[in-house]
Amino acid sequence: MSESWYLPRKIPFDDLIRVLVAEHNLMKEGLRRAKEAAERNDFEGASRALKQLDRVFRQHIADEEGQIIRLLVGELGVKGAEDEIEVFRQHRPIYRLMQTVAELASKEESELGTEQAKLNDLFHDHATAEEERVFPKALSCYERRPHG
Ligand SMILES: [Fe+2]
Ligand SMILES: [Fe+2]
Repeated sequence: MSESWYLPRKIPFDDLIRVLVAEHNLMKEGLRRAKEAAERNDFEGASRALKQLDRVFRQHIADEEGQIIRLLVGELGVKGAEDEIEVFRQHRPIYRLMQTVAELASKEESELGTEQAKLNDLFHDHATAEEERVFPKALSCYERRPHG
């Protein structure tokens, strides 16, 4: 992708997981606000909400791909982290859909609602997969690691 992505944050690993889960909720909330705005035909409000999400999303992905997947692949190998790699493959499609939605909002296009619903569902499923499968596995890998 041509967009500039952020650098991973320097946060202790277990704190990072908490931050990522909190960001899932923040992003769900932002997506919901954007959808509600669009339903009121407040395209500007929808654009604003999506714009705020962009920064959060980029930083979030930088941490998941720079820290979570790195730990999992480091501990389990590519084969052992296959399922998690698959979940993280959704990042680009979700991000692209978010850009499409933002574009539709700025052009006040009528198919905005359908695409927003798709985006919100996709994000919801993605966050659930991370919280139920990826993060617990990453945490247990982290805890099993020899410290020192
Ligand atoms: Fe993710
Ligand atoms: Fe996430």
